[in-house]
Amino acid sequence: MKTVMTSRREFLKHLSGAAIALHAGSNLAAWAMSSTKTESIAIPGEDGMILRSLRFLDLETPVEYLSTWLTPIPHFFVRNHMHEPSGLNAADWRLTIAGEVDHPLTLSLADLRRLEQHSVVNTLECAGNGRGLYRPQVPGVQWGKGAVGTAKFTGPRLQDVLERAGVKSSGKHVMFRGLDEVPGKVPPFIRSIPSGKALDRDTLIATHMNDAPLTKHHGFPARVLVPGWVGAASCKWLTEIQVLDSEFVGNFMNPGYRYPNRPVKPGEAVHPEETHVLTGLTVKSVITAPLDRATVKPGRTSIQGSAWAGEADIVKVEVSTDAGSTWTAAGLGPNHARYAWRLWHYPWDAKPGDYSIRSRATDSEGRTQPAVAEWNPSGYLYDAIDEVKVHVA
Ligand code: MTE
Repeated sequence: MKTVMTSRREFLKHLSGAAIALHAGSNLAAWAMSSTKTESIAIPGEDGMILRSLRFLDLETPVEYLSTWLTPIPHFFVRNHMHEPSGLNAADWRLTIAGEVDHPLTLSLADLRRLEQHSVVNTLECAGNGRGLYRPQVPGVQWGKGAVGTAKFTGPRLQDVLERAGVKSSGKHVMFRGLDEVPGKVPPFIRSIPSGKALDRDTLIATHMNDAPLTKHHGFPARVLVPGWVGAASCKWLTEIQVLDSEFVGNFMNPGYRYPNRPVKPGEAVHPEETHVLTGLTVKSVITAPLDRATVKPGRTSIQGSAWAGEADIVKVEVSTDAGSTWTAAGLGPNHARYAWRLWHYPWDAKPGDYSIRSRATDSEGRTQPAVAEWNPSGYLYDAIDEVKVHVA
C-alpha cells in the first residue's frame, strides 16, 4: 500500500471531519477520525511521505529518500497552493499562447509530442524548503529538509513553442497559468519569468518525469520546468502562456516569493519595495545517512548525502565529524548534470561516542553554506550547514 506518514493529532488540529471527508475521500476521513493507533494513510501514487498539509496537498520527502540520483516519483515532494484540478483529460487539454506574440497558438498534447523532445535532469526545490528550521518561526508550511527532489524532465522546449508564436520585441516576460481549482478568495496560481530564462534551451514544457507521463500531483498533463530556479517557477497543470511587456503583477509574484534586499533582523517586517523576486536556488547540502539520532556500529561507515546549487555547479562538499572544528572533502559521485544535485560520500572510521556530523557545500559561484541561514520573514532559501547527531556504540 502507498502510504504517507503523519500524526493523527497534528492532522486533526488543522481540519474538521467535514473538510476531511470533502477533500480526501472516505478512506482518509475514516483514518483521521478512528481511535486506532494507525500512523499512515494512503494517497494514490505516493509512498512513505510526510504529510505537511492535506487541504492543499503538501508532501515532504523523508531525507533517506534524497540519496538517489533520480528521486522515484512516489517519493518526490508535492507542493500545492490550492486544489489539484479535477476532471482533466489528455484528449481535451489545450495550451494557449498569446499576448506579445505575432501568432497566438492553441496546442494539444499531440501537438506538443510532435515537437522535438528534450530532457533535463533537474533538482527541484521549494523556496520554502527548511522553513520549519528558522528561529524565530515564520508562518507557512513548516517544511523540514525534504521539499526537494531530482527528476529527469522531458518535453518540448518552451523556446520552440514561443518561436512558433513569434515573440514581439515588446515581449519581456512570460507568464504561466495553472488549472488549479481556486477556492474562495485565493488568487489563482499565476507567475512570470523573464523572457531570457523562458527562451533558455533547457526551459521546458515538461510532459514526463523520469520517463513516465506526469502524475496528477506533479502537473499532468504538462508543466513548465524552469531549471535551477525555485520550484514555484515551474507551473503545474499548465493551460495558458502569455508573453507580457513587464513582469506579471499578482499575489504569487508580490508579496509571494520575494526575498529582502538587505539582511533583516529575526522578527523584523520588510516592505515589499525592499524585496526582489526569487529566481535561482542557493547552494545546499543534506546528509542522508546516517540519519539524525541514529545509533551506528563502530568501524567503517559511509556518511552520505546530496548537494545542489541551482544554476551553479557543486565544486566541493566538506564533512565534519567533530561539530564543525575540522572539515575534510567528501567524494563526489559520478552522476553529473548541469542543474542536478551531486551525490557525495565520506568514509568514516566511527569510534564509540556521541557525534555531531555536518556537511557544507561550496559552488562554482564561490558560495558556501553558512553556519546559520539568513532569517527572512517568509522563511525562504534555508541554506545552513546540515547536521545530524549520531551515537556510535
Ligand atoms: N503550479 C501550480 N499550478 N500550482 C501550484 O501550487 N506549486 C509550485 C510549483 N508549481 C504550484 C505549481 C511550487 S511552490 C513548487 S515548489 C513546485 O510546483 C512543486 O512541484 P511538485 O509538486 O511537482 O514537487
